Amino acid sequence: MELSIWLLLVSVLLLVDAIPNPSSPDDGRVHHAPMKMAKEETSSSVQPEVSVTTISTISGTAQVLPPPSTQVPETTGSILTAIDTAGQHTETPLLSTSIPKPETLVAATGTPTAVPTPQQLMAVSPNIFQPIATDAPPSQFSRRGDHPVRKLGVQAQNSPVSTNKFYANFFLGSQSAPTWTHPYSVAWSKGGGVTKSWGMTIQHIDDNQKVFGPDPTANPTQYFINPIGIQSIVLSALELSNSTALTTDSLTEFSAHVNLHPFPGAAPMLQFPLVQGMGFVTVGYKGGTPIIESGVLFRSITKSSISPKPGVTKYIIILEDGKTWLLYAFGQPLELTVVNNGLIQGNFFIGVIQIAKDPGGAESLYDLSCGTWATGVTLSGTASGTAGSYTFSFSKDGFFASPLLMFALPHHVASFADSTRSALLNLRLATTTKGIAQAVLADSWTMQESLPISMGFAPWDIDRGELKDLSVEAIRILHSIAATEISQNISKQTDLNSMYYSGKALAKFAQITYILNTLLHDPALAQTSLTTLQRAFSKFTTNTQQFPLVYDTSWGGLVSSASYAGDPGADFGNTYYNDHHFHYGYFIYAASLIGHLDPVWAVANKPWVDALARDIANASPDDPWFPHYRNFDWYHGHSFAHGLYETFDGRDQESSSEDAMSAYALKLWGSVTGDANLEARGNLQLAVTARALQSYFLYESGNTIQPPNFVGNKVSGILFENKIDHTTYFGANTEYIQGIHMLPLLPCSSLTRTKRFVREEWTRYFDGGRAQKVEGGWRGVLMANFMGVDALGSWRFFVDPDFDEGGLDGGASRSWYAAMAGVLAGV
Ligand SMILES: *[C@@H]1O[C@H](CO)[C@@H](O)[C@H](O)[C@H]1NC(C)=O
Ligand SMILES: *[C@@H]1O[C@H](CO)[C@@H](O)[C@H](O)[C@H]1NC(C)=O
Repeated sequence: MELSIWLLLVSVLLLVDAIPNPSSPDDGRVHHAPMKMAKEETSSSVQPEVSVTTISTISGTAQVLPPPSTQVPETTGSILTAIDTAGQHTETPLLSTSIPKPETLVAATGTPTAVPTPQQLMAVSPNIFQPIATDAPPSQFSRRGDHPVRKLGVQAQNSPVSTNKFYANFFLGSQSAPTWTHPYSVAWSKGGGVTKSWGMTIQHIDDNQKVFGPDPTANPTQYFINPIGIQSIVLSALELSNSTALTTDSLTEFSAHVNLHPFPGAAPMLQFPLVQGMGFVTVGYKGGTPIIESGVLFRSITKSSISPKPGVTKYIIILEDGKTWLLYAFGQPLELTVVNNGLIQGNFFIGVIQIAKDPGGAESLYDLSCGTWATGVTLSGTASGTAGSYTFSFSKDGFFASPLLMFALPHHVASFADSTRSALLNLRLATTTKGIAQAVLADSWTMQESLPISMGFAPWDIDRGELKDLSVEAIRILHSIAATEISQNISKQTDLNSMYYSGKALAKFAQITYILNTLLHDPALAQTSLTTLQRAFSKFTTNTQQFPLVYDTSWGGLVSSASYAGDPGADFGNTYYNDHHFHYGYFIYAASLIGHLDPVWAVANKPWVDALARDIANASPDDPWFPHYRNFDWYHGHSFAHGLYETFDGRDQESSSEDAMSAYALKLWGSVTGDANLEARGNLQLAVTARALQSYFLYESGNTIQPPNFVGNKVSGILFENKIDHTTYFGANTEYIQGIHMLPLLPCSSLTRTKRFVREEWTRYFDGGRAQKVEGGWRGVLMANFMGVDALGSWRFFVDPDFDEGGLDGGASRSWYAAMAGVLAGV
């Protein structure tokens, strides 16, 4: 038993080690590389103590059941005929968002006649989730169909398969790494584990099963992880064997169907509709002999003598760990026979089985909602002034028309509209890394956010809004710094072999140009630098950079050509869909600044920039070229950076601040191009991101969502679906771990990183001169973040005539840092 777990772990480690680390450790820049863990927590698989006792016989007497109310159709798209439609989304009247405040344009820009007036553009749609564009990606991107990663078992799709979503493990590598739907996770057993089953393992981990380490008594501990490989309940069939194949279909933003076939090419025998937050694990049997297995072992299985609904068979299962699970069967009677204390067998069965864990007292709630299940989610949203909302409308299937039981994460519950809040149930189950999920009985949820519409390009403070004013003396000091920095060789610093570093450098020079124009009132110098910057940027818009982008027709996305030559780690795994929102976010941000100063340039380059935006944040299934929201996950409230690599820890993200940057960039690009829906979505995404970061990544004292013996770290480090590790992919220095959640310092930092949080983190790690002693670019990052504690002190640090340039990251400038600190300090 333990041997197989260790083999699993060894294979994980081998897999991880096979991915080369793309970053050289000492090139003097700040790294972000979510590719590889320097160390792996090997305690990830913990088996509960199981004692083999005699299993009780199945008790209760079978009722005479009425015939099933619904026939099982033969379609593969749905395990049943839909009996109800998605919840109705009420659309609000057409309203307008904020009126943009165009800057005084740089002189000599020419008349932007091609740019429509704001009035023509600022209407948002009743549903802001509209496509950015639907035409083919611009012709400068050549097309390739030979992506190095194959879509294992993916059936024909109507739309591109998302690469960074929760279900990706089902089409990658061994296809046996888990998928977390929260609160449950499911994984193809694939002949492994205690049961050696070929079915689907269902797991749920309670908080007291979480493993803290490496020193579990430390406070805070460095990491916590949820055990994997505990096969609590396995849904399988007698017909499944070592020739079983797993396929997926209907892969959408929030949902997927997973099918188990007795052998490749056979019709699917078991079909699992997976939706994030699903309240039951549901499986359709297309004609087979169900077997229910457990690696924890069955203590008792009791057939309920009372059917919760007509035609439903119900069993109460107690495992040897004392946990209670409920099993419901629909479509025809299901008689289970105990084979041994790890194996129960049913009769030949065409129908549906649902499984749920009862933490105590929830049986009646499950009884009420059983027999219906979610099959997908339609996302919609509204924006009006500062009022934003987004709605998940669940599509569903089932034998009964009862409302859906679904689990919401803490950040959903905190932002629920009243109508949704009233549907909360007193049923809670722990999630792996997102606190306690709470059940909701409803066919749609609406969440509300306050939109940061007053935030634009200029420095911004959450309490004071936009800040642009500097004294004559401060302008003199800052102008001399900016003039020096802008005279650097822009082309040399931006024409790199990495989209990540190139985008950061372009954004840096765009920020300095903006400051020269808008805060320092030197349009002439701004125009000169803008021209140089536009020339440097054209390397990318003409796609003639060192590793041009290609449109990958296999997965549907824009990827770096770097890895086609063989190195999967090139440019942080861009070709493998790692980090696109970081890489392209910087380009979109830089383009927004340039386009803000030169609207004609924005119009001319819109298709190219839009293509990057569509790659990371296509908001509509109507755009057939890109998956729906590759990076941002509207269930989790933040993005995942992890691309096409199988992972037993789940998707992950390290740099919460670069995630926020990507939403901010989308918002700005929407404002520059007059795409009011994009601007509104960017505002909404940014607001949701801020809430999710403050819940799960950035911990004020008193955070009650993450474990109390972890929140003292102040930041998550790398947040995975199955563990949180206070470290980074590139080293464990404190300034790396904390700093990767700070950079880049932007107007939106004041939204995502609360003042209280910044002060607490500073006191914990950096006060008393500790930040000033940090080496390299991280010193600048920390001292810029210091403006949240002492704006004047931060200003003085960056304008000091003896400033050490070695303390600046390649994507950072004294000009920008000092300008932000200066306007905040009122110098
Ligand atoms: C599958 O199992 C059968 C029967 O146990 C065995 O004969 C066969 O060699 C196995 N095939 C593989 C590929 O392991
Ligand atoms: C800038 O750097 C490039 C090399 O990247 C070089 O070819 C060019 O001459 C440099 N320009 C100046 C003004 O030094």
